[in-house]
Amino acid sequence: MPNKELLLIPGPTPVVDEIYEALASETLAHTDPRFVSIFKESLQHTQSLFNTNGEVYVFAGSGTLAMEMAIVNTVAPGEKLLVVSHGYFGDRFTPLAQAYGIEVKTIQAPWGQHADLEQIRHVLSEGTFKAVTVTHVDTSTGVMANLDALVPLVKEKGALFLLDGVCASAAIEEDMQKTYGHPDYKIDLVLTASQKALGVPPGLGIVAFGPQALAARSARNQVPAYFLDIANWRPIMDNPARYFATPPVNMVNAYHRGLELVFQEGLPARYQRHQALGKAVRAALHTYGMRALAEEPIAAPTLSCIRYPAGVNDMAFRQALAHKGVVVAGALAELAGKAFRIGHMGNVTDIDFIKAIRLMGETLQELGHSVNPQAAIDTFAEVYTQFLS
Ligand SMILES: Cc1ncc(COP(=O)(O)O)c(C=O)c1O
Repeated sequence: MPNKELLLIPGPTPVVDEIYEALASETLAHTDPRFVSIFKESLQHTQSLFNTNGEVYVFAGSGTLAMEMAIVNTVAPGEKLLVVSHGYFGDRFTPLAQAYGIEVKTIQAPWGQHADLEQIRHVLSEGTFKAVTVTHVDTSTGVMANLDALVPLVKEKGALFLLDGVCASAAIEEDMQKTYGHPDYKIDLVLTASQKALGVPPGLGIVAFGPQALAARSARNQVPAYFLDIANWRPIMDNPARYFATPPVNMVNAYHRGLELVFQEGLPARYQRHQALGKAVRAALHTYGMRALAEEPIAAPTLSCIRYPAGVNDMAFRQALAHKGVVVAGALAELAGKAFRIGHMGNVTDIDFIKAIRLMGETLQELGHSVNPQAAIDTFAEVYTQFLS
């Protein structure tokens, strides 16, 4: 295998050899008992990941399809959905839900900030919303939503709390049995995908439904979907030896291995590692004059959107860095050219980031900027150790 690039975009994230091996294992019949048992275990691990006894769905697709499964099964055409958006991916729920005839109200936070809680409270009190979507980490801004504040606000109004975990699951706690200030205030649904903090290649959509989200589907005979209707998938998720549509056998193998690695590390340790990595990466880049768009208390453990200091050309920086084997992503919308996005999630280590920070410093020096890579590395190591212990 050629030397691996250090893929530090906000997903897909670097895939470790154990997961590649699982991906490359012989493709068995989807009804073969050996595969059926791997699929079953993967579903059980998914329940453990979100600490739920509810139903989980794992299927071929990307995060967007998981968003669509979440919406189409919980909110009926004509019902109201409140979208609380912290950026580009939060916004995506609006046209998605409108495509199903759902009435959508959107609250958009200024990029880099949280949505205003008073505005959310006010909007929720004005109408009967069936559900509210919240993006745990918006991949465009690196803002992490405040679940402690948002879950009670939504649940006290009786709406479903639907969480997009695409840029958070397996790196930040998403516990569906955790209560937020009242025994009934819980996350009702988490949707996610395989390619970010889980460290598995892109290709799987994953949705976990809690009791109230399931009740929303049960209350309707039909939903305007076929592949995405959980009623069609339920028999398969109960017993993967059954058939509805061919499961992506090799991706499920890779996901199974990915989840084994997650539980080998342990969820609390994994959450702490991500927290430490995020803080350390931002502190190190700060020594280069690079500032994260999101302020520290709301900055995500999984990804940062970093503004360039004056005079750094986005394409020149990212291309020179890619040439050295480190790939970061451009920023979106009006931040394009002014910032870049760096993922620090999945099966990545402090060693990867020490290398990346050194190469970023050297790239800046080549582009004529006066920076001190060793000081940045020292800052990284200091902050990482501080937040890991
Ligand atoms: C938070 C979030 N939600 C949804 C999506 C859409 O996922 P996908 O690109 O896998 O369809 C992304 C993609 O990056 C994302 O970051």
